[in-house]
Amino acid sequence: MINSLRGMNDILSEDYERFTYFINTATGIAQKYGFHFIQTPLLEETALFKRSVGESSDIVGKEMYQFIDKGENDVCLRPEGTAGVVRAFVQKKLDRAGGIHRFFYHGAMFRYERPQKGRLRQFHQFGVESFGEASVYEDATMIMMVGDILKKLGIGYRLKLNSLGDNNCMPDYRTKLVGFVQECKDGICEDCIRRLDTNPIRVLDCKNEKCQELYVGAPKLIQHLCSTCSDDFGTLKKILQENSIAYEIDTNLVRGLDYYSKTAFEFVSDNIGSQSAIAGGGRYDRLVEFLDGRATPAVGFAMGIERLMELIVMPESKREGYYIGAMESEAIDFIVKLAHKKRADYKVTIDYKAKNLKNHLKAADKANAKYCAIIGSDELKNSNIWVKNLENQTEQTVLIEDF
Ligand code: HAM
Repeated sequence: MINSLRGMNDILSEDYERFTYFINTATGIAQKYGFHFIQTPLLEETALFKRSVGESSDIVGKEMYQFIDKGENDVCLRPEGTAGVVRAFVQKKLDRAGGIHRFFYHGAMFRYERPQKGRLRQFHQFGVESFGEASVYEDATMIMMVGDILKKLGIGYRLKLNSLGDNNCMPDYRTKLVGFVQECKDGICEDCIRRLDTNPIRVLDCKNEKCQELYVGAPKLIQHLCSTCSDDFGTLKKILQENSIAYEIDTNLVRGLDYYSKTAFEFVSDNIGSQSAIAGGGRYDRLVEFLDGRATPAVGFAMGIERLMELIVMPESKREGYYIGAMESEAIDFIVKLAHKKRADYKVTIDYKAKNLKNHLKAADKANAKYCAIIGSDELKNSNIWVKNLENQTEQTVLIEDF
């Protein structure tokens, strides 16, 4: 038997209902916020992710599904959605058009990680990206949008917030941090030693407990922000407070992708185990330029759909449409025709086997139909159909032409 690859799941039946319920809910909210759908390819040039997510990140360094295609192109399955959307934004010359451009997307992402609960190799994200708005109000709006989606789905969360500074204040801070970490270099893990050369800020979210103990006294970035970054961070906190969105400052929140500046945030759930991040995002004002576009401020987020599916409180599913069945086999052709007509306006489930009434009622209940409509030999003779409303349990026999 051939099974699906490790960390790659099928989505069907009840899971699919949850999946589409999530997509519909998130799409509806993104549209209310004025975002438009964008779809980018699953496969992109590897260079796109090297330049955006960053060669020093785990995602690019260790987790890419990368290969040389038949035309000798170095390509990979997208590990995340932002880079592709930025590429499309630049390729379509929207960076030159000016104004604000807001997109949402959803689809499969691929990371060759060690699979465990909540961590897959093929997973799905719903994301949004906003281009052209430098105001921190847009950052707050992103956070509110995630909050609205989670609220609509009945999902509780904690919001973690940090500022990663900008070109003005980050370099000085980086130097201070490197100085601090050099002092305790003998006790830190190999990954952190490597990070010192590649991307020192990432030592802050090292999962090694010993490293974390050593970094307790490390300089904090939010205490070294320049006045612009500090004012923006203050405004962001004020907007969130005014809109009753609770947050925790997490000075170690640096995110696993290299393109962020200023605002960084993550929504976590305490109810799904160790892979607790259900959404993450932030500002990335320099990425459009990195990908050869005209400098354009940008901010966005992405939510992990599989993790959210564990938490969604589904609305009670209402009975819908018709179940049509026949008690005699000579009526089957007739009910097929009837179902075809009814499907113009309703969901119709049909059984091609003649059955007794009790079995049809059971099947109609299983199909969650609102009406069970049955044709027996009497009904066929008299051009009637027997209909039971499964919600209020009333029954009637009506002429086919009135059905
Ligand atoms: P990210 O934090 O890497 O951000 O991923 C966003 C979300 O995707 C995570 O919070 C998590 O819920 C889900 N996720 C990530 N990896 C996996 C996995 N292996 N299995 C299951 N779920 C996973 C980004 O991808 C950025 N592009 C977000 C962004 C958009 N920033 C700005 N705009």
